[in-house]
Amino acid sequence: MKLVFATHNPNKLTEVRALLPKHIELVGLDAIDCHEDIPETSDTIEGNAIIKANYVSKKYDFDCFADDTGLEVDALNGAPGVHSARYAGATKDDNANVAKLLKDLKGETNRKARFKTVIALNLEREKILFQGIVNGTIAEEPRGDQGFGYDPVFIPEGYSKTFAELSILEKNKISHRANAIRELIDYLKT
Ligand code: IMP
Repeated sequence: MKLVFATHNPNKLTEVRALLPKHIELVGLDAIDCHEDIPETSDTIEGNAIIKANYVSKKYDFDCFADDTGLEVDALNGAPGVHSARYAGATKDDNANVAKLLKDLKGETNRKARFKTVIALNLEREKILFQGIVNGTIAEEPRGDQGFGYDPVFIPEGYSKTFAELSILEKNKISHRANAIRELIDYLKT
């Protein structure tokens, strides 16, 4: 079964491929010649996942799924949330986002946060949503060089390392996206 994951991010493709059963051929947007940046115009994480999945199924006619993720920080009233990618500006710069987050949390003792991923799956006859969450805290400074995005400052609950100090395998056991993907896989198996 060929399934399009609506992403240009090779890190995400690698993470998700490692979780899927072998009979699912997972390809990214570049492999179907979709090189545009799909607009994410919703003000919710769910809404953006749905927009991206619908864009691909309508324009390219493939079974597909799209994910959208937000980092919700308690002391910032849930920000950056749906704005996580552009927190520090339109360039979607991971380092700038991390720097802004640490600046906004400077002196804050409540460092509780969670990653939330929503996946919108569009098959020929049905559309379904899945969700995955991982709770944790925001570190005082970046640590580690694995992963991407906010990984260097996110310490998952029960760990002392940041996501960026864990291997992909370790991150995949507990991450928000892995939890959402597991829901997706359970569904695809039925
Ligand atoms: P997107 O929905 O995957 O585009 O992600 C929104 C924002 O959250 C971007 O800034 C990503 O870098 C960040 N993000 C998404 N997934 C992860 C993750 O697994 N670790 C760290 N940051 C992530």
